Amino acid sequence: MDMETENWAGTAMRPVGLIIRQKDPNNLEMPFDQLGDFITPSELFYIRSHFPTPELDPGAYRLSIGGAVRNELSLRYADIRAMPSRTCVATLECAGNSRVFLVPPEPGAQWELGAVGNAEWTGVPLFVLLEHAGLADDVCDLVLEGADRGVPKEEPKPPGPISYARSIPRTRAMEPDVLIAYQMNGQDLTPDHGYPLRAIVPGHYGMASVKWLTHIVAATQPFQGYWQTSDYGYWDDSEGTPVRRPLAEMKLKSQIARPRVYERLEPGRPYTIFGAAWAGVTDVIEIWISLDGGSSWVQGEFLDPISRHAWRRWKYDWITPAQPGRYTLLARARGADQRAQPDGHNANFGSYVIDHPLPIEVFVAAP
Ligand code: MTE
Repeated sequence: MDMETENWAGTAMRPVGLIIRQKDPNNLEMPFDQLGDFITPSELFYIRSHFPTPELDPGAYRLSIGGAVRNELSLRYADIRAMPSRTCVATLECAGNSRVFLVPPEPGAQWELGAVGNAEWTGVPLFVLLEHAGLADDVCDLVLEGADRGVPKEEPKPPGPISYARSIPRTRAMEPDVLIAYQMNGQDLTPDHGYPLRAIVPGHYGMASVKWLTHIVAATQPFQGYWQTSDYGYWDDSEGTPVRRPLAEMKLKSQIARPRVYERLEPGRPYTIFGAAWAGVTDVIEIWISLDGGSSWVQGEFLDPISRHAWRRWKYDWITPAQPGRYTLLARARGADQRAQPDGHNANFGSYVIDHPLPIEVFVAAP
C-alpha cells in the first residue's frame, strides 16, 4: 500500500456499528459510507441470517461428511483446527444487496449498499476433507447444511421447518480456495458469522457460504433444495423455455461509499469520491465515474492491486461544480473479460443481483 493510499484511507471515519434491517433473525448491514481499509473490520461486516443464530458447543460439535462417499467422516472441531490451514481474502456480497434501489420496490430486506464486505478467512480447504471421504465417481453436487432451522418467511413456504442448505458443484468444491473456515480477520468466527465452522466459497454470492456447517452430503443428482430453487434462484432461458437455476457467482459491481445519498457538498471544492468494486469470475480492471447522471464518464483510480475474489477500493478526485444544484453520481466497473456493469437490473433475477450502476444523488450548495 503506498503512502497516499495509507494516508487517505486513514481519514476514514471510525466504525459506528451496523444498521438493523431485521431483528431476529439478525440482518444487519454496514453503513457503507464507513468504508475505509481494504479489510472490513469484523464488527462492521454485514450479517445475513434466515433463522435465529444457533448456539453450538465446540466440544459436542461434529461436522459429518456423508452421502456418496467411500468413508463417512464425523469430524470434531478440534480435528479441523489441527489440520493444515489456508488463508484467503474474499469479498462476500449478499445477492439482495442494494435491493432498496429497485424501482418499483421488491419484497425482502431493504438492503442499501452495506450487505457486502471484504474479509480474511482462515480454514481447511474443503477438497482435503472430500479427498479423505473419497467421493464416488458420479457425485455432481456437495450439499452444505447448517445447524439453523425454521420456516422461511418468503413464499412459497415449505410444509414445515427446514435447515439452511445450499449446494456447490463438485468442480467448484474441489478448488483449493473453497474453505471450511473457523477464523475471520484472524479471530475465531463470532456466533453471527457462523461459529464454530462455516463454508467460504469465494466469488459466489454470500448465500453459498453456509454458516454453522454441520453436514456435507455428496449428491449424485443436482440438489433441488428450497434455497436454490424457491429462494436464491433466477430465471434462465433454455431454448426459449424459462428454467429456474440457482444463483452462483457474483456479478461485476461497483459502489460509491462517499459521498452518501443526499450529501450536501460545497461548490468548487476538491472532494474525493470513494468506493469499491468486485467481481465473481473476472478481475476488475477499470472504474468509470459519471458526475452527470450517466451522460459522460471519467476514469477513477484503484487503491488496491488485483487480487482474485477480493474487492478493489477506488477513488476519483473531483472538483465539485461551481453551479449549485442536484447532481447524480454513478460508478461503473469493467472486468478483464471486457464486460462492464449493465445499464439496468435484469428482471429475470427478481429481487436479486442488483448489479447496475446505482445513482447517488448529492446537493451542491453554498454553506
Ligand atoms: N448459512 C446459514 N446456515 N444460514 C443462513 O441464513 N445466510 C447466507 C450465508 N450463509 C445463511 C448462511 C447468506 S444469504 C449470506 S449473504 C451469508 O451467509 C452472510 O454471511 P455473514 O452473515 O457472515 O455476512
